[in-house]
Amino acid sequence: MRAKIIATGHYVPERILTNSDLENMVDTSDEWIRERSGIRERRIADEKEAASDLACEAAKNAFKKTDIKAKDIELVIVATITGDMPFPATACHLQHKLGLKKAAAFDINAACSGFLYGLSVADGFIRSGTYKRILLVGAELISRITDWEDRTTCVLFGDGAGAVILESTEEDRGIISTHLRSDGSMWELLHLPGGGSRYPTSKETIKKKMHYLKMKGNETFKVAVRTLESLVRETLEENKLKVSQLSLLIPHQANLRIIQATAKRLGIPMDRVFMNIDRYGNTSAASIPIALDEAVREGRIRDEDYILLEAFGGGLTWASALIKKKKKKMTNDQISITK
Ligand code: UT7
Repeated sequence: MRAKIIATGHYVPERILTNSDLENMVDTSDEWIRERSGIRERRIADEKEAASDLACEAAKNAFKKTDIKAKDIELVIVATITGDMPFPATACHLQHKLGLKKAAAFDINAACSGFLYGLSVADGFIRSGTYKRILLVGAELISRITDWEDRTTCVLFGDGAGAVILESTEEDRGIISTHLRSDGSMWELLHLPGGGSRYPTSKETIKKKMHYLKMKGNETFKVAVRTLESLVRETLEENKLKVSQLSLLIPHQANLRIIQATAKRLGIPMDRVFMNIDRYGNTSAASIPIALDEAVREGRIRDEDYILLEAFGGGLTWASALIKKKKKKMTNDQISITK
């Protein structure tokens, strides 16, 4: 028994912040942002919206694509580092909003790798027979933890949410394997220091801007390319697959150059790599489920395809998941044509 994804959905806020808007806010240029990151624009949530609101819209869009009803969901997991509040979990707010009457709920904090950590946990619950139907959402409002005076970070991130509904299957398809890694010794490369038990919020922490995300971009970049290449290779080796058997790579959308460098090292042509970073920037835990939903809607995922998802982020954490698409059931007409 394993998990299969039976529906995907996403939601991004309406407001678009372009590179030229940013030129009026900090000392940057459209050219620098596009060349160094591949980003043209990103979405920014309305001040009334919180993570559970974005998550709710993404989940509703996923529910539209399946017969499964909200009441059938037994567990809801939200991957986020920008939840509605430190507690309760954003998953609890979402459980309430969607009326998931019999669902357990918790959040996962693995930064940009959060969705894939969540996928692995959800798959484990399904494989163990604990739950049969799980809602997993990646939802982020990185705009809320962005220092809009720091040009090294404020141009990179965006807000959004993506959702998947998972169900148990006995078939040899669905989530084939998941692979999770971490190295906490490098936590300082990407973190938010204030507001936790180490540095509780005070006038001092606010004065020192400790409530904003900090990133050593260039060092993070180098570790990302190195670790993602080796994790993808391990994932393929473990499943006795060759790079050529992957029909689509859906990477975390952090930086166009990270995506290109990883694909080049692996020998994956760019037409088999899904990208939407130009439109959304880095949406952290929401990036992969948004990309996955767009790939599904654009018809980029065909029957029997092997798809590889990979992500890298704060922690440091990195992760991958190999998915095989379920073969569509043929209708009676199609069966007779085949015969
Ligand atoms: O999702 C989690 C994981 N995140 C990542 O993996 C992101 C990793 N890092 C990156 O995406 C890239 O490192 C960045 C896009 C953040 C930066 O690109 P880079 O090629 O590594 O540039 P850099 O940090 O080495 O900076 C080059 C120059 C610096 O100026 P000097 O010191 O050479 O004079 C920066 O001050 O670019 C300057 N700079 C900017 N200039 C214009 C930094 N930010 C900006 C900016 N506009 N927004």
